[in-house]
Amino acid sequence: MEPVRLQKYIASCGVASRRAAEKLIEEGRVSVNGQIVTEQGVKVTPKDKVMLDGKPIKPEGKKVYIMLNKPEGYICAVSDDRERPCVVDLIEGIEERIFPVGRLDYDTTGLLLLTNDGEFMQSLTHPSYEIWKTYRAVVKGTPNEKNVEDFARGIELEDGKTEPAVLEVVGYKGKNAIVEVSIKEGRNRQVRRMLEAINHRVIKLKRVKIGGLELGDLKTGAWRYMKERDFKDLMGSQN
Ligand code: URA
Repeated sequence: MEPVRLQKYIASCGVASRRAAEKLIEEGRVSVNGQIVTEQGVKVTPKDKVMLDGKPIKPEGKKVYIMLNKPEGYICAVSDDRERPCVVDLIEGIEERIFPVGRLDYDTTGLLLLTNDGEFMQSLTHPSYEIWKTYRAVVKGTPNEKNVEDFARGIELEDGKTEPAVLEVVGYKGKNAIVEVSIKEGRNRQVRRMLEAINHRVIKLKRVKIGGLELGDLKTGAWRYMKERDFKDLMGSQN
């Protein structure tokens, strides 16, 4: 095998995305042949002994790609210091070390991808790929036409104006509305904050689509391996 950059090698071990691997290196958590490495340019081959936090890491063999319908009450992580349930606990019977691609809040449900392929994760979460994500929300009250236009222009949030987004009222539930929101970014609690900014607090939030890949009839808490068709859908557009 040709020598590869250390961050790419770490990503191929399924322990972090390439960007997260750069941070691990910067933080002095990675060693090569017993030597802590903090610069980014170093190249390695599988003959080198690479360790993360003192534990050896090796490139993953088989790559796995999973779709999960995340229930409420799970955090998108592989472990939690507050001992809350983690989404990976729901994926039983697989040996590969997988991690969630991006995040859904503890109380958000719906489509979540998990993989041991750091490159795949990097490509999906990097802002330059601009993959649309669609959420279905129950909100207080009913957004109006002006709100829809405001979303299309971008909403001013405390961490800056968002990219243009799509807001559509698709139904009603008593005094509340059911809306679909599509965004390209992935800021923390972004959909909740955007809807709060137009005075329609979120009561329930579910991700129903990533790119053109739909959650479909996957039951809450259930998962399945992605099929070839799913990858095509994922990269297809939805708006
Ligand atoms: N936006 C949110 O507000 N929450 C999520 O979980 C995902 C997107």
